[in-house]
Amino acid sequence: DSPRRWALRGDLLDFTAAPAWGATESPVVRYDRDHWLLVEDGRIVGRQAAEPDASWVRKDHAGQLVLPGFIDTHVHCPQLEVIGSYGTELLDWLERYTFPSECAFADPVRSQAGAEVFLDALVGAGTTSAVVFATVHKTSAEALFDAAARRGMRLITGKVLMDRHAPDGLRDDVVQAERDCLDLIARYHGRERLAYAVTVRFAPTSTHAQLAMAGGLCRADASLYMQTHVAENRAEVAWVAQLFPEARSYLDVYERAGLLHERAVLAHGIWLDDKDRRLIDARGAQVAHSPSSNLFLGSGLFDWRGAPFNVSLASDVGGGTSLSLPRNMLDAYKIQALRGERLTAWTALHAATRGAAEALRLGDEIGGLSVGQMADLCVWDWAKGPVAEVRDAAARELHERVFAWMTLADERNLAACYVAGQRRV
Ligand code: GUN
Ligand code: ZN
Repeated sequence: DSPRRWALRGDLLDFTAAPAWGATESPVVRYDRDHWLLVEDGRIVGRQAAEPDASWVRKDHAGQLVLPGFIDTHVHCPQLEVIGSYGTELLDWLERYTFPSECAFADPVRSQAGAEVFLDALVGAGTTSAVVFATVHKTSAEALFDAAARRGMRLITGKVLMDRHAPDGLRDDVVQAERDCLDLIARYHGRERLAYAVTVRFAPTSTHAQLAMAGGLCRADASLYMQTHVAENRAEVAWVAQLFPEARSYLDVYERAGLLHERAVLAHGIWLDDKDRRLIDARGAQVAHSPSSNLFLGSGLFDWRGAPFNVSLASDVGGGTSLSLPRNMLDAYKIQALRGERLTAWTALHAATRGAAEALRLGDEIGGLSVGQMADLCVWDWAKGPVAEVRDAAARELHERVFAWMTLADERNLAACYVAGQRRV
């Protein structure tokens, strides 16, 4: 446990606004080499060059990189056991691996154990906040909320809504699902650092009636989040067009149900047209770009530069191959390279911190190292191992150094992680 008042020394890096696309030199990068952060009762209360007085317990991380804890805006708790499943694209992957595996979370004991391992692994990767899919089972959402509360984590999750096109044991029905949502909202939403997300798995697994019910929940309480998948895979998009002939597009299915709003988190968004893109922006929603998943499942190359809306970064484990957001940043860079674009470390890091926080309307609480924000912070080794050491020593300017870090770092670089001021790694 950490003391009530403590001070952290290191190389502080965060953002004051969104960096311009492609700019390796940016005025919005706030880099304070060898500075101190003062933390009291889980919050940042000071940021200074001078060494604090003896009333502050010191944690000296001189020569290490201090970043806000990462925010993973789309990840599936019950899918650790299907990471790295061979040989399929999305729809076959769901049927062959993911749906059968999620059935086990009907058991509260399995759900609890799964939530503990999952949250420890998230924090162990430097992710201190997340927007998480549970399973269709109410107990899986309860387990996640309880485990996050025990860790003091900012967590957004909900029971998955799916009432068709899924195997026995993994479907709900409209009436029972609404009851479960309302009970979970009453018990968890707004408690401590927890928030509820109305969680439509994706359009194909919900009936029109269930989508309407989900929209009703959002309309009744504007503080609720909404999370779902959209336009991830071409066969999926074609299936949605068949199932919802009345809709103009896949995204329009959600629009018609009243599910697009400023607390909506849409995973993937690869196969959207211009009208869809403008609509996401007009509704104030965000896309959770999931690069390792998009590459692994062969889903497609997300157009980040052309996005008029907020883009955050997500692991989408188990479609994604790592909970580490730096690993996902590298995949995001490679996706943009294949598109003939270049993703800077600034845009990638901003999307995983301040950008995600602001898109979630949580910018006052998370995503930065400013006075008043929660002390969700990670201390990273600039270099781990001989290759990274050689590369780090050769870096001549800040973007070069941070970009090489982003390219080479993973959870082994994580030297310490604090959640609400408490040491967790
Ligand atoms: N679409 C519907 N469900 C899922 C899922 O679990 N993972 C991914 N990547 N896409 C989905
Ligand atoms: Zn997903």
